[in-house]
This record gives sequence, structure tokens and C-alpha cells, in this order.
Amino acid sequence: MTSDGNRQITLSQRPVGYPTESDFSLVESPVPHPREGEVGVQAIWLSLDPYQRGRIRGGASYAAPVELGEVITGGVVGRVIESRTPSFQVGDIVEGPLGWQEYALSDGRNLRKVDTTMGPLPTALGVLGMPGMTAYFGLLDVGQPKPGDTVVISAASGAVGQVVGQIAKIMGCRAVGIAGSQEKIDYIVDELGFDAGINYKTENLDTALATACPLGVDVYFDNVGGVVTDAVLEHINTFARNVICGQISQYNLEEPEPGPRNLGLLIIHQARMEGFLVFQFAHRYEEGRQRIAGWMKAGKVKYREHVVEGLENAPRAFMGLMRGENFGKLLIKVSGE
Ligand SMILES: NC(=O)c1ccc[n+]([C@@H]2O[C@H](COP(=O)([O-])OP(=O)(O)OC[C@H]3O[C@@H](n4cnc5c(N)ncnc54)[C@H](OP(=O)(O)O)[C@@H]3O)[C@@H](O)[C@H]2O)c1
Repeated sequence: MTSDGNRQITLSQRPVGYPTESDFSLVESPVPHPREGEVGVQAIWLSLDPYQRGRIRGGASYAAPVELGEVITGGVVGRVIESRTPSFQVGDIVEGPLGWQEYALSDGRNLRKVDTTMGPLPTALGVLGMPGMTAYFGLLDVGQPKPGDTVVISAASGAVGQVVGQIAKIMGCRAVGIAGSQEKIDYIVDELGFDAGINYKTENLDTALATACPLGVDVYFDNVGGVVTDAVLEHINTFARNVICGQISQYNLEEPEPGPRNLGLLIIHQARMEGFLVFQFAHRYEEGRQRIAGWMKAGKVKYREHVVEGLENAPRAFMGLMRGENFGKLLIKVSGE
């Protein structure tokens, strides 16, 4: 579906529990034109990410919430179609938080020019974008893996998890992924080279972790929280590092589940648990991007994307992300490259 105006997805009501279609509205406004100092960008790719659930919840967090009637927050790769600043030329490919809409204005402060020689355009939102940076700095700086360590990753086939496991392998670790379907397990083991995979929906987690991690767990890269995390903590080693990256199992609950109740294990094992936000490493993104791009060229890091066509399908795709229906980095193709 195309139009002459600017189609936007706005927040019509705050979701209660899992988001539904009626929480979102598709609206159309005139295509905006830049004023002095601004650029106009046409979106090509839109990134759907779990953090957006927090932004539409409202309330205090590390970033301001989306207000009712506002365009939903989201990372975009797009093309500059009008420029009234010398910093950007018409035709530049840029990336920035331009939201769920076809056209957006920016004063340039939140835009970066994408180096299109590093990878295909959507990688700027995935393996070479925010999720890739999360995997790189979360594992290497917070998790501090050593050769021979066992690294367990939850949501292992997702945008962040798939990169974490591959970097763990590059670092000489044993990589064990936890995911929600046999297809996802086959992918991380057979295609990405993880040493083992556990389906948390069908397997007994305790037994499966004991089998997959015979020497225990040295680094746990936690994307999900809840019962999966409780189970992994039972297997940590002395001086283990638990990297708290995400807690997606809790994002759609009105009240957080009780627990974890086994934090005493951190005392027994003198282990660390540390949350982080990828933005704290923003000054080092170029390092992360260069290293991951190098590994991609060497065939050591692969990636999988899940592409949905059309801005109007973003709400439904986002609802699927919250239920594990995505397989790889979830992207909306908004317009042609
Ligand atoms: N700290 C940071 O700065 C930062 C930055 C980026 C992302 N994150 C966090 O990292 C995590 C992964 O993000 P992503 O972009 O890579 O998403 P993703 O893994 O591509 O997609 C989310 C996945 O989470 C899994 N999931 C959904 N509900 C679940 C549940 N109740 N229990 C267990 N798993 C569930 C699903 O996979 P299965 O089929 O395997 O269940 C789903 O595919 C999220 O928690 C996100 O908030 C944090």
C-alpha cells in the first residue's frame, strides 16, 4: 500500500498485557519539508525492538515514554530526500530514531551516515547496529569471557542472542543457546556453530542445562529473565558473570512475576550480576562495528533477518515479536532501496 502523504503509526492507547492492534493507529499527514538546518528523510527500513514495549507502557524509565497520539519510537535506515544543512546531502543513507513513519525530519544531531560498504542497508539496524553493539559490548565488556568458559545465552536466535553466541565462539568459549522452537535451535547449532541448544518450551531446563553445560556456566547472557534465568542460575560456577541485557518474559505482564528467589547462589559462587544499557558504550560503537564487520567478512559472524513488508504491518509484527514469532532481527521494509 502506498500513498502521497506520510503514513505514520501512532499510539492510540497504552497496552494492557500483550499489545493488540487497537493500541495502534495508522494515520496520514502531509509529507513534512525541512526548515533551515534540517533534513527530510524517507524511511527504507524500520527496526522493531523489544525496548519499544517499555516506551509505550508509560511511566519512569531511562527514556521518555511515547505519549498517546505520538508516532511510535523506532530506529530507521532511510535516504535523505531534502537537505537544508551542509552536513547531509540528498541521497545520503542515514540511520537514526525517526519512528514508525514513512517520512521524518531531523536536525541531524541524532543521525549517522551509514557506511554502505560495511554491509547491506538493514544490517545498520541489526548486526552492525544497536543489537550488534549490545551483543559485542554486553558480552565482551560486561561478561568478560575467557577461552574455555561456558557462555549460556537466552533468546539465542534473536537479533542480540545470535551475535552473542558467535562472538563467544570466536573468543574460544563453549556457546549454549536457549530458544523457543526446534527450528531456532537447529539454526543456532547447525548454521551459527553454537555447541548446544535448549528448547525452553519443551525440555526440562535443569536436566538440559546439566547436559549442555557439563562444566557449569561461567557467563550467562540474559535476554529473557523469569523461569529461564532462575534455572540457569542453578548452574553457575564460582566467579560467574550474569549479564542482564533484557527481561522480555516480564515486559507484557502487568505485575512482575515473583522471584528470582535464588540470588543466594550469587553469594555461594561469589558471582556477579550486572545490568547494562548499550548506550553506555556509544563512544566505542565504531570499534564494535569494525570488529563485527571484520568477522562477517571472515565468515565468522552470520546473521538472520526476519523481514515484514509494509509500514501498516508493523503493529502485527511487533505483537509477534513479543511472542517469539520472529526468527532473527525483525525489520519492516517501508520502501524500496
Ligand atoms: N540492555 C540493552 O541495552 C539492550 C539492547 C537491545 C536489546 N536488549 C534486550 O535484549 C533482548 C533481546 O532483544 P532482541 O532485539 O535481540 O530481540 P529478539 O531476541 O530478536 O526477539 C525477542 C525474542 O524473545 C523471545 N521471547 C519472547 N517472549 C519470551 C518469554 N516470555 N520467555 C522467553 N523468551 C521470550 C522470543 O524468542 P524465543 O522464540 O526463543 O522465545 C523472541 O523472538 C530483549 O530483552 C531486549 O529488551 C537490551
